[in-house]
Amino acid sequence: MDRSCWRCAFVAFALLWIRVSSEADQVCFPKNFMFGVATAAYQIEGAWNVSGKGESMWDRYTHEHPDRVFDHSTGDVAADSYHQYKTDVALLSELNVAFYRFSISWTRILPTGLSNEINEDGIRYYKELIAELHRHGIEPLVTMYHWDLPQALQDLGGWTNPITADYFVDYAKVLLDNFSDTVRFWITFNEPFTFCHDGYGGNDAPGGRSSGFEDYMCAHTVLRAHGMTYRMFEKEYKRRFKSFMGITLDLDWIEPATTSTEDQIAAETARQFIFGWFAHPIFSAQGDYPPVMRTRVDANSLRHHYSRSRLPHFTAEEITAIRGSSDFLGLNHYTTYLARKIGSTGTVPLYDEDVGAAFSQREDWPKSNSTWLKVVPWGLRKTLNWVKNTYKNPPVLITENGISLEPGLNDMRRINYIDGYLRALHSAITKDNCHVFAYTYWSLIDNFEWMRGYSERFGLYEVDYTSPERTRTARRSAAYFGKVASTRCLPDEYDTYYYYEHNYDAVVV
Ligand SMILES: *[C@@H]1O[C@H](CO)[C@@H](O)[C@H](O)[C@H]1NC(C)=O
Ligand SMILES: *[C@@H]1O[C@H](CO)[C@@H](O)[C@H](O)[C@H]1NC(C)=O
Ligand SMILES: *[C@@H]1O[C@H](CO)[C@@H](O)[C@H](O)[C@H]1NC(C)=O
Repeated sequence: MDRSCWRCAFVAFALLWIRVSSEADQVCFPKNFMFGVATAAYQIEGAWNVSGKGESMWDRYTHEHPDRVFDHSTGDVAADSYHQYKTDVALLSELNVAFYRFSISWTRILPTGLSNEINEDGIRYYKELIAELHRHGIEPLVTMYHWDLPQALQDLGGWTNPITADYFVDYAKVLLDNFSDTVRFWITFNEPFTFCHDGYGGNDAPGGRSSGFEDYMCAHTVLRAHGMTYRMFEKEYKRRFKSFMGITLDLDWIEPATTSTEDQIAAETARQFIFGWFAHPIFSAQGDYPPVMRTRVDANSLRHHYSRSRLPHFTAEEITAIRGSSDFLGLNHYTTYLARKIGSTGTVPLYDEDVGAAFSQREDWPKSNSTWLKVVPWGLRKTLNWVKNTYKNPPVLITENGISLEPGLNDMRRINYIDGYLRALHSAITKDNCHVFAYTYWSLIDNFEWMRGYSERFGLYEVDYTSPERTRTARRSAAYFGKVASTRCLPDEYDTYYYYEHNYDAVVV
């Protein structure tokens, strides 16, 4: 061999070494791990009044109170996915995702909310969407309720009316009867904490603004509805169709603001009031509301001289029906908050006083285009560990995680966000043994972000709201996420910069 060939051997060896060592460092998810993306009916479909669809409470609310929506917009047309669904499925196919999480609009199926009148065009629309997904090898993951309650039911009190639980079961039965042959993964409710707390206790539709009262009534009805629906599913559908049903709950991480014992207790109490409110009745061994909620709301109710607690009671049968009523836990997670203790001294009921915590975020956490959403990847790892330890490591499907940014196609900061959160997730799975089997990015496309209208964009694809067909254009993050979904590994050709783990164990304020 002459010298030049020694040189080629050396170069070849060096290249091989670089390849092997970078493969060893590469962050890869388990073989059966799935990646998907999510949307929700009211946020993307539009076509609010065509083909027999009835009015939902979000239709009514945005029409009656445009002033309350940041940009005075509505979901009347949104991203027009009702007409553009084939384009959307083509994007999903381009991303190479294993599943698509979307929601069914209750009033597109049952215009008045009740099952005596089924709108055939609604059934047709979702059948075609699901068939198109299957043609592309994409699994549908269907949310039955993503906030768009039929207005006819809201007129009867909505989720504060206990009877609404029975009407939800009727609606769920129509869905299970019509779609079970093509849908294997069901989610009953999306984020009951947010739609009960912000909807009935605050400013989201229906604008109940009755904090500490209607929010508890709403949650009670929703939990009963979920339990009854799951038991019906278990009895009549689950085995026959080999399908699964869960619920999606939202938990952003809550870190104590200081190392003081009272802030540590306030943070844990807040987790119980936000997440445990729904998770304890379903996923704990005991069932029912978390003991700390019972104690605190009962005490505050007594202090205000109510004859009974503002937190309703389940019957023994209800506790049993709701306990264990989920095959998996859907988890929505976006950011992290710091909690510090506050006293409850007010003269009127308030959920926040029942919780006894005030929330803040650090100024130096990277920002998004939403005031509440700061980039804190280690918060996801802490959340997953807390869920593991609190509920005996249930199977978790991350049903939402994502970031809003200003319009633009070169969204390197979205890639950084996803990359950081996926690294934290990977650590939670491989180092901490958290049982997570899928990750969903929110969202496939830009959409109607509730009270923020179209001003906050979460899409991997940008939507041009000025074009009649709402043209979708891939952002840089679409190529990134497509690569992740195809390879199950984090690509290393992106210059991502969030170092996500250095303060994982620190309480730094
Ligand atoms: C549907 O709503 C649009 C406004 O978004 C309105 O212009 C149109 O007349 C309505 N169509 C029907 C059939 O009510
Ligand atoms: C759709 O659901 C309704 C109500 O459960 C049922 O009567 C009807 O037969 C179902 N249609 C199909 C095609 O399964
Ligand atoms: C979001 O972006 C818009 C411009 O598109 C800007 O006016 C607004 O201040 C931004 N909000 C935040 C919280 O960054």
